[in-house]
Amino acid sequence: MDLGEAIKERRSVRKYKADRPIPQEHIEAIVEAGCWAPSSANTQPWRFVVVTDRETIAAMAGAVHDVFQTISKEALRRGEKRVAAFCRFVRGHGGFFADAPLVIVACAKPFEFPLLKMPTTTLVETIREIGGMEVDFEPIVVDTVQKSVAMAVQNMLLKAHSLGYGTCPMDAPIAVERTLREMLGIDDGLRLVMVVPIGIPASARVRAPNRLPVVEVTRYHQP
Ligand SMILES: Cc1cc2nc3c(=O)[nH]c(=O)nc-3n(C[C@H](O)[C@H](O)[C@H](O)COP(=O)(O)O)c2cc1C
Repeated sequence: MDLGEAIKERRSVRKYKADRPIPQEHIEAIVEAGCWAPSSANTQPWRFVVVTDRETIAAMAGAVHDVFQTISKEALRRGEKRVAAFCRFVRGHGGFFADAPLVIVACAKPFEFPLLKMPTTTLVETIREIGGMEVDFEPIVVDTVQKSVAMAVQNMLLKAHSLGYGTCPMDAPIAVERTLREMLGIDDGLRLVMVVPIGIPASARVRAPNRLPVVEVTRYHQP
């Protein structure tokens, strides 16, 4: 598949053929595509939890649905209509994947610069002590792992698309991170970043949401 075509034709798919399990070699190919993503200092902070058990997948989707259902009802009861509408949106966009035959939960390990062999907190404190107070560490030692994992996820979406699968990169389920962590036995050392249901799309075509024109999102810097 041509790369440009794959980039443009990949869609977020939210309905899957439940009775079409994904062969192991395809699961491995999708995860391997994730592993070839770039990562900060090549730390490869991604860890993937592969879920194929139907009951577990339905329970995950149900947990997201139920929590936002409860909050949206309570918001309505209190007259908070806009909050209720937001919660209904998240309920719909977070709890739809019960039918997916495969869900990959992409997680991040905290950043550890390979050569330093010291905790990141010690590194940051020491740099601050010696005068680097104005340096903003958040983007390079905290957020950095999320960026690397997001890149891995995009690789996986494209690979899955090239194999004929529909996917949806999701972060709404991360709102119930603790519940998902317990369901899947994910240890405290990992942060959940994205939840990606994968399956044969239930319908042949999914409409492409429009994109802002390139000129609108680009500014050529003039010194
Ligand atoms: C960081 C991120 C989080 C997203 N979270 C969700 C989500 O929780 N639920 C959902 O249905 N779609 C989610 N999406 C998918 C977007 O809605 C989708 O990419 C966007 O509408 C463009 O559609 P397309 O992917 O078909 O091009 C997410 C996408 C990204 C990049």
